[in-house]
Amino acid sequence: MDVWRQAKWDEPLVFELTKARRETFKVISEFSDEAKEFIKDILNALPKNLIRKEPPRIPDLSEIEVVRHFTRLSQMAYGIDVGPVPLGSCTMKYNPKISEAICRDSRITDIHPDQDEETVQGVLEIIYLMQKWLAEITGMDLCTLNVPAGAAGELAGALMIRKYHELKGEARDEMLIPDSAHGTNPASAAMAGFKVIKIKTDEKGNVDLEAIKAVLSDRTAGIMLTNPNTLGLFEENILEVAKVLHDNDSLLYYDGANLNGILGIARPGDMGFDIVHLNLHKTFAAPHGGGGPGAGAVCAKGKLVNLLPKPIVRKKGGKYILDYDIKYSIGLIRAYYGHVIPTIKSFIYIIMLGPKGLREVSEISTLNTNYFIKLIEGTKGITLPYDPARPRKHEVVISVERLAKETGVNAEDIAKALLDRGLYAPTIYFPLIVHEALMIEFTETETKEMIETYARVLKEIVIEAYRDPKKVKETPRNTSVRRIDNVRANLPKYVTPTYKFIERVKKD
Ligand SMILES: Cc1ncc(COP(=O)(O)O)c(C=O)c1O
Repeated sequence: MDVWRQAKWDEPLVFELTKARRETFKVISEFSDEAKEFIKDILNALPKNLIRKEPPRIPDLSEIEVVRHFTRLSQMAYGIDVGPVPLGSCTMKYNPKISEAICRDSRITDIHPDQDEETVQGVLEIIYLMQKWLAEITGMDLCTLNVPAGAAGELAGALMIRKYHELKGEARDEMLIPDSAHGTNPASAAMAGFKVIKIKTDEKGNVDLEAIKAVLSDRTAGIMLTNPNTLGLFEENILEVAKVLHDNDSLLYYDGANLNGILGIARPGDMGFDIVHLNLHKTFAAPHGGGGPGAGAVCAKGKLVNLLPKPIVRKKGGKYILDYDIKYSIGLIRAYYGHVIPTIKSFIYIIMLGPKGLREVSEISTLNTNYFIKLIEGTKGITLPYDPARPRKHEVVISVERLAKETGVNAEDIAKALLDRGLYAPTIYFPLIVHEALMIEFTETETKEMIETYARVLKEIVIEAYRDPKKVKETPRNTSVRRIDNVRANLPKYVTPTYKFIERVKKD
């Protein structure tokens, strides 16, 4: 199967394209007297201090120039519509076009969150149903959609855990987090005021139960876990972990980023989790990363529902209303009721698939992962750390540590070589407990043929690494941008030419 080839345009910034003023827009002071007379009512209504004297510094281009500029940029950009994006932990699945089409409807695009509830009953109904369905999917009692993404959900959950203990008059200040966790977990716990206690992973790839028992005390507020964990492995001792924590009156927080591995089969609520966040954009296919904003849901069980971020949509007398009167709510995490468009896209994904289809999501994504593992099994230089005999769920983490030692070609070089061959790179160097990690997740929407292509190309790169490592280390050659300087790329000063442009405008 052919892979995608990136175009190489020497495309300037859209600002730099503006060679001369074409007057595609005008400020009021430039209007003719006749035009000013025609709109005088509007002019009189405008606050004088808001009327511009100078044109804004925005690109002044004709339609065809704009279309060509963005088309050329799109030809240089890789996306899920041209090939797989197997970024482990990110769950980049295909985003159905029907969701895009529906969300372009003016009944969605033209509404404002300050509108009277009476006039947005349809959207409120969608949020209401999502609250119910997500509670059912996760085994929780109630959800809110106020949070804009996973990390914001974690912060909400950590704040809820803090408040739960405060309401009992206890100042518990320690949060347990496994060493395999996503960086946002310790960051959220720290932002909520907790001291982070790192828990090691055992040799089978589970969070180490004995290590948990060793640190448990009356200062332990809770634990943040994702299951399947970031190694793609199901936490085998989860029921025991929950019991040990609950016996200590500590809470369990579920990071739902990996729900794709168990969707429709197992529920965090049944495993003993008290609070859950979901990354709707991942599990339920709304564009994210460079493609659009995320949406979160935070769900809770029992009395903890009284601590959820507000508002909650409720049904009263046949009407949907926004309830801000939640007894011990930690407050608003996001203005209004969160990111509605990705929520609607997720709603569409759920209704398109139905209960059976949702279960197939995790079945097929797990099958895809394990098929890929079989295809690359035995490749020289590649290992599968943490009990290779255990099947993985929705994602797999392989290590190229041996390859790096034997050839000098490391995980980053492999990632660049994949880009060079027209395939998107996986997540690299995460989780931190795996040296030279490549974290690969195909999701349920990738085809068998594409997974075979990916495995074949990966094996070809490894063969080349043993034959001619320098050649691999010099990749990518065929991409529109060659190897970037990782350190420079992370300094805000150098992040983008746009940054430089903004700096210039500020100076002017
Ligand atoms: C395991 C895990 N937890 C949390 C997050 C944070 O989610 P978000 O990017 O929606 O803030 C991610 C994101 O990739 C993740 O992989």
